[in-house]
This record gives sequence, structure tokens and C-alpha cells, in this order.
Amino acid sequence: MLVLKSISDVKKEIKKYKKQELKIGLVPTMGALHEGHESLIKAACDSCDVVVVSIFVNPIQFGPGEDYERYPRTLDKDIKVCEKYGVDLIFAPQPSDMYGYEKHQMTLVVPPECLRAKLCGKSRTQHFDGVDTVVLKLFNITEADEAFFGLKDAQQCVIVKRMCDDLNVNIKLNFCPIIREEDGLAKSSRNTYLSEDGRRKALALSKALNSVKELYKEGIVSIDEIKEKVMPELSKSADVEYFEFCSFNDLSPVMFLSENTLVALAARVDGVRLIDNIVL
Ligand code: PAF
Repeated sequence: MLVLKSISDVKKEIKKYKKQELKIGLVPTMGALHEGHESLIKAACDSCDVVVVSIFVNPIQFGPGEDYERYPRTLDKDIKVCEKYGVDLIFAPQPSDMYGYEKHQMTLVVPPECLRAKLCGKSRTQHFDGVDTVVLKLFNITEADEAFFGLKDAQQCVIVKRMCDDLNVNIKLNFCPIIREEDGLAKSSRNTYLSEDGRRKALALSKALNSVKELYKEGIVSIDEIKEKVMPELSKSADVEYFEFCSFNDLSPVMFLSENTLVALAARVDGVRLIDNIVL
């Protein structure tokens, strides 16, 4: 397994893969790999000939005051995880390898406001242009045939898909299910910020989403009614930033639950911002 940080070195390897007509799978990550990432790596290994994992804490998708500096960096451990699955290449650049300019001076891929200003974009106003920009760079550098993203970042999936549609990016996108702890907490690199008490309280997010699922099964589809039933319990443990119901296709808000409704939630637990969702 190669671990490369320079774009030109990666491109040299990619050229070799292309010459052999191998199908390249890319798993874009910010490292601190957990079972959620492992499921993406497994999916990539199953459907592609060579697998590239990028490990890059992307500075331009963090806003001022967010956790860029604090974000866990565990490259040695991540390398071992990738080795376990037979990953072919890790691309682990430094910010200076990826960006020649400050964010305000560089060409950015800016998703449409109707997608970027909702859900997480309400508080993370500069986030999704940073995501789309780095994702397109990674697609171009690796010339991947397929890419693998986790549905935990559902809005990111919708936005990356729209970028590929709008800009005719020739890649197959795979969105893989959320991986959860046994008790339901969605796996996240940010779970490491939680105290023991926070970890307990964090269960309120997946419990709230499960309650929505149960109410939907019982035939309750009014979002007002569902919020009324679910919010009180959720708010006891978490400081809710948003609890929204929208179409998974274009994030347009819905009044009633139906198939393909994205139920998305962001909340702070002991100061740690967590997200979770379900798609009905
Ligand atoms: O989902 C992530 O970890 C990041 O947003 C991504 C897609 C690797 C881009 O930096």
C-alpha cells in the first residue's frame, strides 16, 4: 500500500492504473477512521479493482471558531485500518499540497443556495463550498470511476450529487448506510469529543429518529404532530439546532412524512455538535 502526499506522485500511480484499465474507487475521508469509514472502504474494495482512500482534514470546509485545529488526526492508526482492507493507495496531503491560495482567493465550487443554505448550512455557512471544492479536486486528482460517501452526511450526499449532475462529472456515486454503535449512536469521528455523560445524552438523537420511524409506522404523517411528540424528550438531553423534514432529492421542506423523506437532526450535547438522520 502506498501512502503519498504529493498530487503529482498520486497522478503518476493513477496513470499506471488507467493504463491497465483498472476501475478506481475513491473513499474521501478526513481520517480518524471508524467503522463507518470501514464500511465505505469495504464497499469500494467489493466493486472496484483499486481503492484510493484520501485522508485530509480540509481547512476550507471549517468556519471560524469550528473544530479544525481540534479535529482528531490519527494517520498511523488510519494506515493500519486501510492495510487491513487491502487499500492500494492512501492520499494524505498537507493543506499546502492541496491549496496554493487562501480560500477567498481560490476558485470554489459553490453549490446552489437552495441546497447549501439549509440544515447544516444555516450555521455552517461556508461549509459546503469547501466540501464541493475539495471533492471535485479529489475526483480530478484520482480520476476515480466510483466514489463512496456515508449517508450520515445526507446533505453532503445531495450536494455532491448535484455538483456531479450540474458539472457533468463522470463518476458513479455510492451512498452507504449509516453505521451505528450497538445502542444506536451514529459513528462519528467527533464522538471522541464526548464525555461519559455526553455520550449517554447523545443517544437522544438516534432515539428521536427511531420514534419518528415508529410514529410513521403507526400512520402518523403530520410533521407538526410528530415534532410535538418527539421534541420534549429530545430537548431534555440535547440543545437542538435543527430537526427538519425534507425531500431527500432536493432538500425541499415537506409537511407530511412519506417515502424518501429525509429526517435530519443537528444538536449540541455538552457543547459537542452532532448530526444524525434517517431516510424513510
Ligand atoms: O465527509 C467528510 O469526511 C468530508 O466532508 C469529505 C467528503 C472527506 C470532504 O472533506
